[in-house]
Amino acid sequence: MAAHARFRLRSAGSLLAEAGRLGLDIPYEDDPSILAERAVVAGRTVPNRLAVLPMEGADADASGGPSERTRRRYRRYAAGGAGLIWIEAAAVRPDGRSNPRQLRLTGSTVGAFARLAEETRAAAAAEWGPGHRPLLVLQLTDSGRFAKPEGTPRPRIVQHNPHLDPLLGLPADYPLVPDDELDAIRDDFVEAADLAAAAGFDGVDIKACHGYLVSEILAAHGREDSRYGGPFANRARFLLETVGRVRGETPSLIVTSRLSAADLVPFPFGFGMDPDAPGNVDLDEPKALVAGLAEAGVRVLALSLGVPAWKPHFGRPFDRPVPGGPVPDEHPLEGVARHLRIASEIQLASPRIAVVGAGYSWLRAFAPGVGAAMVAAGRTAVIGFGRGALAYPDFAADLVREGRFDPGKVCTTCSLCSDLLRRQEPVGCVVRDPLYKSAAASARKGGQAP
Ligand SMILES: Cc1cc2nc3c(=O)[nH]c(=O)nc-3n(C[C@H](O)[C@H](O)[C@H](O)COP(=O)(O)O)c2cc1C
Repeated sequence: MAAHARFRLRSAGSLLAEAGRLGLDIPYEDDPSILAERAVVAGRTVPNRLAVLPMEGADADASGGPSERTRRRYRRYAAGGAGLIWIEAAAVRPDGRSNPRQLRLTGSTVGAFARLAEETRAAAAAEWGPGHRPLLVLQLTDSGRFAKPEGTPRPRIVQHNPHLDPLLGLPADYPLVPDDELDAIRDDFVEAADLAAAAGFDGVDIKACHGYLVSEILAAHGREDSRYGGPFANRARFLLETVGRVRGETPSLIVTSRLSAADLVPFPFGFGMDPDAPGNVDLDEPKALVAGLAEAGVRVLALSLGVPAWKPHFGRPFDRPVPGGPVPDEHPLEGVARHLRIASEIQLASPRIAVVGAGYSWLRAFAPGVGAAMVAAGRTAVIGFGRGALAYPDFAADLVREGRFDPGKVCTTCSLCSDLLRRQEPVGCVVRDPLYKSAAASARKGGQAP
């Protein structure tokens, strides 16, 4: 591992030199136009191979429906031209929310979600014409261990974990969510998927990343006497059964998942880790899971890595941690290279599935060159941006129209959006978006975010 460093790259040549110095595989293609081409993803034609990744806004209205602020975010993404818009986590039950302002999909908020889908599509069509239809996927979640439905932790855990329990001060006898409650949560996902179809989304994502409930089940090696713990088939059961049920009950809907392909939490407490070298990634199980998802009819899958509440840099390589957070013990380019390597391995092992890759934002204006090389080599189908999209909602428009990203508009990986989420305040880019620059200033003065 190399020491952490901030971004100082001035050219593609310096990026490749830095990758060489660190011994990393960072592919690069000077012509990024492949990303601007139409593609078929999960049986639908999408306008380009660029995706907005799900980014929680913590700005739902009081009932859990998307607010005007939420809808503004998605109108901006849609006008910005991305081919896939992966809408942020929406809780499938009240105690599964990560914060009191997380979206929540229920019978009483479904109308507000329908308005979100409609306004997002209208904004895309107004800017790009009626033929431009981004794929709209809604992420469904239960925050499990990291639930804070009223603003303070109310963890619902499926196994004890010596790496994660101390984050919440959990005692050794803290109770586990029993199997019959997990069965009920699976039903909540299925019901929410039905509502998502009624609201007009193209697809739903059964969220299985970042240590939240379904992700934690995948890692529940030590859960005993349970249909959902121990052997791989048990740990994969929740996700596979939920996907199968949604496909059976709502066949018109695309079903997908956002998967932490590896938790980076040492074996046996993390998914995708090596039993013989517990801190190392081992993709045998993730590949088997993805093959099972393909068998169940999944044709698009978004990948991520890590458990951000534990070590956020694995999922999102950054220059600066959140205020007061630790500086990672690796170079951000190592984190980017890990994302690329793992996405490649999964994509090459499951060519029937279109993999949506993550972890590109740190690369700033060099991200299209790296993404284009990944797509050209068949190592990933779609390139996703999380923080990058928040900072630069029209990133796809600039790539399609100008053939490049504008270096003056890219994300600076300052972690201040993460800090807003941590403080349960409405999330936006405090560097680039005027609405949130004032939020940051007001927070600094000790006031409320507007
Ligand atoms: C403020 C914030 C909110 C996020 N919300 C979600 C979410 O709702 N669902 C999800 O799967 N990932 C979420 N993520 C992770 C991002 O989707 C993405 O994986 C991560 O930022 C790395 O990609 P990037 O380098 O393009 O930012 C969030 C990240 C941040 C910083």
